[in-house]
Amino acid sequence: MKAWVVRRLGGPETMQFEDVDASAPADGMVRIAIRASAINYFDALMVAGTYQTKPELPFVPGVEISGEVESAPAGTAFKKGDRVTALLDSGGLTRGGYAELADAAPTTVHRLPDAMPFDDGAAFTLTYQTAWFGLHRRANLQPGETLLVHAGAGGVGSAAIQLGKAAGATVIATAGSDEKTALCTSLGADHVINYKTQDFAEEVKTITGGRGADVIFDPVGGDVFDRSTKCIAFEGRIVVIGFTSGRIPQAVASHVLVKNYSVVGLHWGLYSRRAPELIPVANAALMDLYAAGKIKPLISARVPLAQAPTALERVASGKSIGKILLLI
Ligand SMILES: NC(=O)c1ccc[n+]([C@@H]2O[C@H](COP(=O)([O-])OP(=O)(O)OC[C@H]3O[C@@H](n4cnc5c(N)ncnc54)[C@H](OP(=O)(O)O)[C@@H]3O)[C@@H](O)[C@H]2O)c1
Repeated sequence: MKAWVVRRLGGPETMQFEDVDASAPADGMVRIAIRASAINYFDALMVAGTYQTKPELPFVPGVEISGEVESAPAGTAFKKGDRVTALLDSGGLTRGGYAELADAAPTTVHRLPDAMPFDDGAAFTLTYQTAWFGLHRRANLQPGETLLVHAGAGGVGSAAIQLGKAAGATVIATAGSDEKTALCTSLGADHVINYKTQDFAEEVKTITGGRGADVIFDPVGGDVFDRSTKCIAFEGRIVVIGFTSGRIPQAVASHVLVKNYSVVGLHWGLYSRRAPELIPVANAALMDLYAAGKIKPLISARVPLAQAPTALERVASGKSIGKILLLI
C-alpha cells in the first residue's frame, strides 16, 4: 500500500511517498481501507518532532480518518464493509492516516451514520469533540452568554462557532483576513473581527457594552491570549486550546484574581485515557446536532493522497480554511 513515511524529522517536504508492506494487522486491531484522511495542525508538529506526542521513527502521520472495514477481530461490533470513522495512534507504518490502509483500536472506531458522507466523517471527530469539551465540559457555556472564538475559520475554531450558536450563545469570531472573517459570518458568527487589522479586545468591549466575553476559546495563544485577558468578563473563562502563534503565553495569577476570571486548559486526548465514558456522550450529542443540520464540518479542499506535503504545508503556515482532506 502507498503511505507517506517520516524517516527523519523536519518540514512536510521531508515525508517520503513509499510502498509499505501492509502485513496482517496486529492482534485486536480493525483494518480500515481509508477513503478520506483529515490533515490537522498538530500533524505538522508531529512530523517536525515538536509535538507532545513523539512517535518512533519511521512512522506514518495522520490520526483522523474515515473508510471501510477490511477486517475486524471476532467479538468486535464491526465487519467487512462497514462505513466507519477512526482515530489512529499514528505509531508504526500501518497506524497513520496519510496512507491507503490503517489499523485502529476497536474502541476508537465508530460507525458512520448512513446520511454522513466519508468527507464529513473524516473531518468531524477531533474538531467537534475538542470544541464540545472546551465549551461545555471545561467552560460550562450557558445560553445567552457571549462567546469569543479566535481563529474562527480554522478547524477547531469553525466547530466552536457552530457549537456556540447551537448552545444559544452570542458568538464573536476573530480571524486573520477579511476572507476568513466573511467565512466566520457564514458559519453563524454574530460579530466578526479581523484581528490582524483591528484591536479585538477593544472591539469586544464595544460589542458587549464594556462587559467582555464570558467564554474565550483560544487555539492561538501568544499575544492573542494576552489581549484576551483584557476583554474577559467578570467570572469569565478563557479556554486554552493551542498555540498556533508559536508562543506559549503565561497567565498572570494576580490578574486572574483581581478580575475574577478562570483560565482552563483542554487536552482532549487525555479524556480517552482518564474519562473515556464521556466521549460517546459528546459523540451522541454531536451526531444529533449534525442530523438536525446545526453543525457541518467546514472543508475547504479535497486533494489526492499524493499531494499530502503541499496540503500539510498549507495548514502549518496558517493559510488553510477549515479542514483539508486527503482523498484515497
Ligand atoms: N487542546 C486540544 O485537545 C486540541 C485538539 C485539537 C487541536 N488543538 C490545537 O488547536 C490548534 C488549532 O488547530 P486547527 O486544527 O484548528 O488548526 P488550523 O485549522 O490550522 O487553524 C489554526 C489557525 O490559527 C491561526 N494562526 C494564528 N497564527 C498562526 C501561525 N503563526 N501559524 C499558523 N496558524 C496561525 C490561523 O488563523 P488566522 O489566519 O485566522 O489567524 C489558522 O487558520 C492547534 O494548535 C492544535 O494543535 C488542540
